[in-house]
Amino acid sequence: MKFFIDTANLDHIREAHELGILDGVTTNPSLMAKEGITGQANIENHYKKICEIVEGDVSAEVNATDFAGMVKEGTHLSSLAENIVVKVPMTKDGVKAIRHFTDNGIPTNCTLVFSSAQAILAAKAGATYVSPFIGRIDDSNWDGMLLIKEMAEIYAIQGFETQILAASIRNSRHIVEAAKNGADVCTCPLSAILGMLKHPLTDLGLEQFLADYRKGNS
Ligand code: G3P
Repeated sequence: MKFFIDTANLDHIREAHELGILDGVTTNPSLMAKEGITGQANIENHYKKICEIVEGDVSAEVNATDFAGMVKEGTHLSSLAENIVVKVPMTKDGVKAIRHFTDNGIPTNCTLVFSSAQAILAAKAGATYVSPFIGRIDDSNWDGMLLIKEMAEIYAIQGFETQILAASIRNSRHIVEAAKNGADVCTCPLSAILGMLKHPLTDLGLEQFLADYRKGNS
């Protein structure tokens, strides 16, 4: 399973990159706004900075909602750096735009996916990635992992090559469950990635090893 970080925070991206486990980055307009990045020129400049830190895929989301606007904006975004993936929402115009980008060799990430029906459409349009929003499904009292599982089954049966990118991940348990249920990629905040390191028995064990070492070497 690939690991992406879901943020526009450059310090968080650098920290995950330095861990040596980072395969890419996803962003969205809300994450950009959270970092205070506003205005198209600043947003594009920020994408360039992210692409200088990581070699892997960096999702850059279109803000246009009509087909022509998405094609224009996405084509421009993809010219900013070689590793840009154009992120397109799951709408009627979005599906048409994904098909256009696919036919023109531009990789895409279909975002805001909440059902297997939407996931099938995204795959049919040739999306490189499809992003089911796990945490938001859990928030609405359903089970996001059931969606990952069903999507993985359908994609395997049908031979779809679109990669399942588990998004809206809130904690390290989500990452484990997404891996178990067949996600190809997990995009996570830094807190969820660092949360994977933690176990109290690791801390206690290390404390004991160091104490014993000090006893034998003092
Ligand atoms: O990748 C999508 C993600 O950013 C949404 O996460 O936590 O806003 O539901 P969240």
